[in-house]
Amino acid sequence: MVPDINPWSSNQTIDIDKLFSEFGIESICSVLSEIPEIPYFMRRGIVVGHRDYHQIASAIRNKTPFHILTGFMPSGHPHLGHLMVMKEVVWHVQQGGNGYVTIADREAHAVRGISWEKCGELGKEYLSCLYALGFEGTTYYQSKNERLKDLAFEAATKVNFSELTAIYGFSPETDLAHAESVIMQVADILYPQIDRVPAPTLVPVGIDQDPHIRLTRGVAHKMRMFTVEERDGYISVRSKNAPEEALKAVHKSFSGSKKYEGHVDIKGMPCADVSQKVREIELAHGGFGFFTPSSTYHIFMPGLTGGKMSSSIPESTIGFFEPEATVRKKVMNGITGGRMTLEEQKRLGGEPDKCSLYLLNLFHMVTDDNDLQKIRQRCEQGDITCGQCKKETADRVILFLKVFREKMDAASEKIGVR
Ligand code: TRP
Ligand code: SF4
Repeated sequence: MVPDINPWSSNQTIDIDKLFSEFGIESICSVLSEIPEIPYFMRRGIVVGHRDYHQIASAIRNKTPFHILTGFMPSGHPHLGHLMVMKEVVWHVQQGGNGYVTIADREAHAVRGISWEKCGELGKEYLSCLYALGFEGTTYYQSKNERLKDLAFEAATKVNFSELTAIYGFSPETDLAHAESVIMQVADILYPQIDRVPAPTLVPVGIDQDPHIRLTRGVAHKMRMFTVEERDGYISVRSKNAPEEALKAVHKSFSGSKKYEGHVDIKGMPCADVSQKVREIELAHGGFGFFTPSSTYHIFMPGLTGGKMSSSIPESTIGFFEPEATVRKKVMNGITGGRMTLEEQKRLGGEPDKCSLYLLNLFHMVTDDNDLQKIRQRCEQGDITCGQCKKETADRVILFLKVFREKMDAASEKIGVR
């Protein structure tokens, strides 16, 4: 049964619906029945959308290879705002995915002017968070990965400046390194498929990151030698830029197939089998055989100050190494969905969906669904004051950080392993 994915509904969903219909992102509801276990971030309506998650769900169910990848730009310390993506990656690793994490030091250097030394230090902090959460897999710094750079160069043959202008608003003043950091990210997303095998790849991102995903999906498609399409009663394998030898090999592999100028038509074969074989032929002829990457989209945890959670607004978020007193103060000062007066709060109840602290609990601090439901109820029925609720939340955050730091220490020897 597919549960109501948004029992704690948050206002953000309204705009999301519009965003989805404009850009063709599907609701996460469409895949919930396809996975054996529904993680809390899908159950609670944090991850709300996806592109092509079906191929990931199928890989999880059938225990076939898939990759799970994300990247962090080391331009500031990791904080609560980074935790969601990290958990999504770790969960998918636990479901059998090959984990990949890129430290986008080239991007941090090009776009934010962070020194290489600082990038190295900050990168380690992100990695220790990931390992503390149970990450296993491959990690690298963009600047040190030569094969990644070659892949980025190859990918760059498929993207021109007008496309970058359309997607990112680049202007003639944009420096080349910025453009290069975009193509590095494209390469990051495709990298697991050259490092291991071509396989479905999932990139969990915040909803604002969809432009990167669209660009990369386009490039992945353009880098294929062939397209495989199901037509009426047959399958058409079309060459986009395949060498004639490769097209001949396709023809030879399927008895009874017909070869034409630039395409081969195949009858009586399941499309998936044809795709697989064509991919192998592509690889044997020096192609990439990429699967078009998939993505999931999560909503943002609002900052404690109301707006965005960002390290450039220190009061909006909590870093993983902040002292207890600071953490408590930030939580106690957080924007709530409480009423103006105590009397009103008792009579009308609070508004948890507008409360940065409720959402902090929903995202990370309360793992048990029943406990969370209780917090919601107490709030809505006016059974608790915001002061008391904040205090309890602060205690949870402080305990969470204590345990998390211990795990980070324990994981420290894993950093530096490539
Ligand atoms: N651009 C991302 C950021 O600003 C970091 C990043 C680099 C990334 N490569 C990636 C994210 C690949 C997802 C996948 O944080
Ligand atoms: Fe937020 Fe708690 Fe106040 Fe409700 S009672 S608005 S959840 S701080």
